[in-house]
Amino acid sequence: MSINRIAVLGAGTMGHSIAQMAATSGFDVSLYDVSQEFLDKALAKITGNVEKFLVAKGKISAEDGQAALARLRVSTDLESAVKDTDFVIEAIPEKLDLKQKTFADLDRFCPAHTIFATNTSVLPVTAIAGATKRPDKCIGTHFFNPAAVMKLVEVVLPLGVSAETVETTLAVCQQLGKTPIKCKDLPGFIVNRLLGRLYQEAAQMVLDGVATPEEIDTAMKLGAGYPMGPCELADFGGFDVIQMAQDAIHEYTGLESDRLSIMYRKMLEAGRLGRKNGKGFYDYQPDGSKTPFKIF
Ligand code: 3HC
Repeated sequence: MSINRIAVLGAGTMGHSIAQMAATSGFDVSLYDVSQEFLDKALAKITGNVEKFLVAKGKISAEDGQAALARLRVSTDLESAVKDTDFVIEAIPEKLDLKQKTFADLDRFCPAHTIFATNTSVLPVTAIAGATKRPDKCIGTHFFNPAAVMKLVEVVLPLGVSAETVETTLAVCQQLGKTPIKCKDLPGFIVNRLLGRLYQEAAQMVLDGVATPEEIDTAMKLGAGYPMGPCELADFGGFDVIQMAQDAIHEYTGLESDRLSIMYRKMLEAGRLGRKNGKGFYDYQPDGSKTPFKIF
């Protein structure tokens, strides 16, 4: 199936970046959010990123940059944002009932051929697809943060998805410049299931007094070639997101070792969410510098 028009729902961290990639990859893009303020901020970021990371670095010409921005429109009205689209990528907040309601609305507003993809990192794609009358055209596309930089998309296959939807989605991801990997719709998919173990073990090592978060991060960067250590990466993703993912994995496996570490629970109780509010294993300053947070 030929895809020309993509609608991206949600103009936050992931959504604005996906919309940027879709526009610079040649798609006509419609970016939807409930708030005009979010859309204005997203447009400003996308415009800045296209200039700073693509045009100024000679990756695309100034004309192509302008053409990409001209292919991008924004809307706070869901129906007009999606009514003529071929492919929807939903990147709204991680709440199952909200996603299900949005998918049911998409089902009413979109043409019959439109494929619906959710960028959920945690929720069951099968349950989101079940809110529509077209589960064969629903799929997961899990992008990684920062979405413009990370090359992977996990293509998550819910029960009932058609082979044509899978093939079309793989082709869209490739056109976005990504490497898609298919996986089953089981909690954590591939990457978060493995990263969950890493976050859990790093927290336990801090609790055991094996080493400080800073020492663990340095060890994994220098000893295992990680671009970020596990504590930095946990801060980067956010403890609230880790909690959601880990709770889902634990519910699925029932393993005690998958129960969210008390370390993250205490951090969340203390209002420490990670980089997003400047308070995680490290305290972050507005200039981007960081100092270790003294846990004990
Ligand atoms: N648009 C286009 N290009 C961009 C861009 C943007 N918005 N932002 C950066 N780039 C380009 C840069 O220009 C640069 O290009 P170049 O190599 O050609 O010069 C390239 O992307 C790399 O950018 P940076 O130099 O800023 O990146 P760093 O080398 O400093 O690395 C990092 C930063 C990519 C964040 C690296 O530290 C890293 O890989 N960290 C690990 C991140 C990770 O693991 N993410 C996954 C988390 S789990 C997840 O997301 C799951 C979810 O469900 C929570």
